[in-house]
Amino acid sequence: MARRALVATAASIVVLAPLAWFWQASLMPGTYSIMDGHGGHQHHGRGVHTLVADPARAADVRVTLVARKERFRLPSGRAFDGYTVNGTSPGPTVRAVQGQLVEVTLVNESVPDGATVHWHGIDVPNAADGVAGVTQDAVPPGGSFTYRFVAEQAGTYWYHSHQVSHEQVQKGLLGAVVIEPGTPRGGVVALVHRYGAVRTVNGYAGDVVQPSAAGERARVRVINTDNGPMTSWVTGAPFTLAAIDGTEVREPAPVTGQGVLVTSGGRADIEVVVPEAGARIELGGDTAIVLSPPGSVAGKRSPAPARMVDPLAYGAPAAVAPIDPGRVNREHEYSIGRRPGFLDGRPGLWWTVNGRMFPDVPDFRVAEGDVVRFTVSNHSGEVHPMHLHGHHALVTSRDGVPATGSPWWTDSLNVASGETYEIVFVADNPGLWMDHCHNLPHAAQGLMAHVSYEGVTTPFLIGGPAANSPE
Ligand code: C2O
Ligand code: CU
Repeated sequence: MARRALVATAASIVVLAPLAWFWQASLMPGTYSIMDGHGGHQHHGRGVHTLVADPARAADVRVTLVARKERFRLPSGRAFDGYTVNGTSPGPTVRAVQGQLVEVTLVNESVPDGATVHWHGIDVPNAADGVAGVTQDAVPPGGSFTYRFVAEQAGTYWYHSHQVSHEQVQKGLLGAVVIEPGTPRGGVVALVHRYGAVRTVNGYAGDVVQPSAAGERARVRVINTDNGPMTSWVTGAPFTLAAIDGTEVREPAPVTGQGVLVTSGGRADIEVVVPEAGARIELGGDTAIVLSPPGSVAGKRSPAPARMVDPLAYGAPAAVAPIDPGRVNREHEYSIGRRPGFLDGRPGLWWTVNGRMFPDVPDFRVAEGDVVRFTVSNHSGEVHPMHLHGHHALVTSRDGVPATGSPWWTDSLNVASGETYEIVFVADNPGLWMDHCHNLPHAAQGLMAHVSYEGVTTPFLIGGPAANSPE
């Protein structure tokens, strides 16, 4: 009897001791630097706060964004408990002309956890990237922070908090950004966001009528701010996919009976020549922008098409200076998996990067001037919208099939389970940059890593007195 008990105890120690070790090893320190564990602290080098737009240059566009936690009315009339920017959600659209210096002051009036503003898809200087604990401290209630960047890329972008982002973004701390070239392209913003279970466009549920003129070429700037991919398509007219993630497509051909997959965080500018009877830009099926000439009535939506426009082969190819994929001198692998384990003491099935679990994920080192190739593959059983901060990457292949269409520049790439993408970018924007899944709960569950430039350091800490928590 005693012997048996002893054997049983010994057996459970054999099983439990390693488990206890894994559990203990997974506990996250309350405060750490993203530079820990990557060759230790680097105290020398350029601090992220020095990577700024020309401080001597005056701003061309000045905006103040006031963030609040409150119960508010959506444009649809529904009440919602969340966050507003200047009293509404979505917040105001920030507009600039290409080349202008944009200066935005975030004032946190009452967001208890602190807040930041990240400029999703805009390759800002690192100090303006808005990542709590990496490029700044979260702005506490009563505090403010000023972001400065030159709007170098025309296109459709958005902004959102990057502090406790899986909660603050979902609850409304976000808005659109439109940067126009010298000759404006115009168009309407279609910022898609779910408040609770209700999908909205610009805060309205259902059909949103946009008065238009028959025969006019109209651009709808679709922005998917939700955690999952969305299909957009057009009822009543052929359309072109005019821009992807802010970059114009070269010679986009009109399509009918096809959809556009807009991944989480991604943007798609859709253009139609408005027919007399109007056209519907369908946004996931339950909401739409209805381009409606006088006298037309919003027709019924067409069913979601099974075929999708494939950006890999859409539009006309071109050589892309300065990227010559033959000049790649730095290669990284970003392989996404999933396995059972502990994340900060919690047992579960957690995401892995190259087989490792957060925070033991690789730090993707680059040097300024590198031409970098990432091979991004997904073996995890779920789709991941992968978002690299501070850079646009050129997609060169998917599952071994080379890109043949218009140069496909992306900042938010839908990587389905089983897929492998090769992307290439020029390391021309020094800093410490997040490279994470934009299904934000996944990021909070550890699906994130950093691209860090040699010689760049950060004084900011995850945790710490500012309670920085970027995911
Ligand atoms: Cu839209 Cu790291 O974020
Ligand atoms: Cu994900």
